Amino acid sequence: VRKIKLGFLGLGVVASGTLACLQRNREAIMRRLGCELELVRVAVRNLEAPREFSVPRDLLTRDPWEVVRDPEVDLVVELMGGTDPAKELILEAFRSGKSVVSANKEVLAKYGDELFAAVEATGAGFYFEGSVCGAIPIVRALKQSYAGDKVLELVGIVNGTTNYILTAMDEEGRSFEEALAEAQRLGYAEADPTDDIEGFDAQRKLAILADLAFATRVNLQDVFVEGIKGVQAKDLANARDFGYVLKLLAMGKATDEGLELRVHPALVEEKHPLAAVRGVHNAVFVRSEGMGEMMYYGPGAGSEPTGAIVAADILEAARNLIHEVRNATPCTCLYDLPVRPMEEISIAYYIRMVVEDRPGVLAQLADCFGRHSVSIKTVIQKAVNGSAAEIVWLTHPAKEADVQASLAELRRLPSCKSIPAALRVYG
Ligand SMILES: NC(=O)c1ccc[n+]([C@@H]2O[C@H](COP(=O)([O-])OP(=O)(O)OC[C@H]3O[C@@H](n4cnc5c(N)ncnc54)[C@H](OP(=O)(O)O)[C@@H]3O)[C@@H](O)[C@H]2O)c1
Repeated sequence: VRKIKLGFLGLGVVASGTLACLQRNREAIMRRLGCELELVRVAVRNLEAPREFSVPRDLLTRDPWEVVRDPEVDLVVELMGGTDPAKELILEAFRSGKSVVSANKEVLAKYGDELFAAVEATGAGFYFEGSVCGAIPIVRALKQSYAGDKVLELVGIVNGTTNYILTAMDEEGRSFEEALAEAQRLGYAEADPTDDIEGFDAQRKLAILADLAFATRVNLQDVFVEGIKGVQAKDLANARDFGYVLKLLAMGKATDEGLELRVHPALVEEKHPLAAVRGVHNAVFVRSEGMGEMMYYGPGAGSEPTGAIVAADILEAARNLIHEVRNATPCTCLYDLPVRPMEEISIAYYIRMVVEDRPGVLAQLADCFGRHSVSIKTVIQKAVNGSAAEIVWLTHPAKEADVQASLAELRRLPSCKSIPAALRVYG
């Protein structure tokens, strides 16, 4: 029986889950593949660290280059994270004709271009299902299941940390700070949560997904991003009163004018399936010409779930090696669709203001919206505190540039004391 020899870069959370899964299902995998998978080399930073999944000491090395250059290694599994040295290691593996399985969204979102070009040139395979939404097989779905269809829209809750925080604020009325602290205590948020709460992690994932969904090379900087910092529990409660739930959405849409690509908190109608995605779970809602609407839902991270999907990539890669088949479309970039500037996109808004409570103020504020072509759907006075009143507006969809111009002018009006929230509405 031929053996496919694996070289791992990293033996952390995901790598341990992957190896445990391969070991647990060893018998079934051998039958499915008709060959055995053998771990022959593993790079780590610390040789002495205790491991969730232990491997024989003589397989370990502190030099990741040893793994990618080892002639014995057939398949490189990159689960170290970061871009340096991960990117160069992946390129080196391709140069020596080795296929690579990776779960590294950062390297893909930043250097996808270079990596896809390199793998095309060498004929090796590149598999990265684990890089987006943990265990949800969305990469495979977009590459294969939609290959004969046309994706019109893709909307995801792709970051478990922020969804956990927003769920805790929504259901338990916690403040952002409290919910974040709890997420950190439970291990759902990093000590430095910047990437998650500023939306950068979701931005990377959307770049990868949009690439596949719209067959266009999407650069990270093409994706508009705004995180959930500054979101207040009060607005989640107000949103509920209007029949909405606040979520951090990663949205991609194909329009006649080009692609719309944006990540920001958004009010989602309670009856939309994405509104029901709670806690650390992830989901991707896809609307396509032929198949209609579909939602992919499941665990977006974690050792076992991500490990299991990475194991599936390893099997696919191994099968392709055995049968000498090329990886089906590492990149599907057939077009070069333009990306619409955010300012031109029409979006409805939820806006909460604290204003002077006296006659004529409401008309003045409404006039400002009107002059900027922002039309109002609903306005509600929420509370009065002494001489100040709190007002919530829901607008009809209006050009982002016009909404921003009206907000800038409103902030300068003496009758408008503050605008604590201006949140976009999805749909
Ligand atoms: N965690 C998740 O749930 C999840 C989900 C989806 C995707 N991912 C992605 O999967 C990748 C791995 O994440 P993880 O959570 O498993 O990370 P992790 O637990 O921090 O593991 C990283 C591993 O890589 C090793 N490593 C890092 N830099 C190295 C270097 N320069 N040379 C040699 N070894 C090095 C570390 O060695 P030491 O152990 O000795 O420090 C560690 O074993 C990342 O790209 C991440 O974005 C993670």
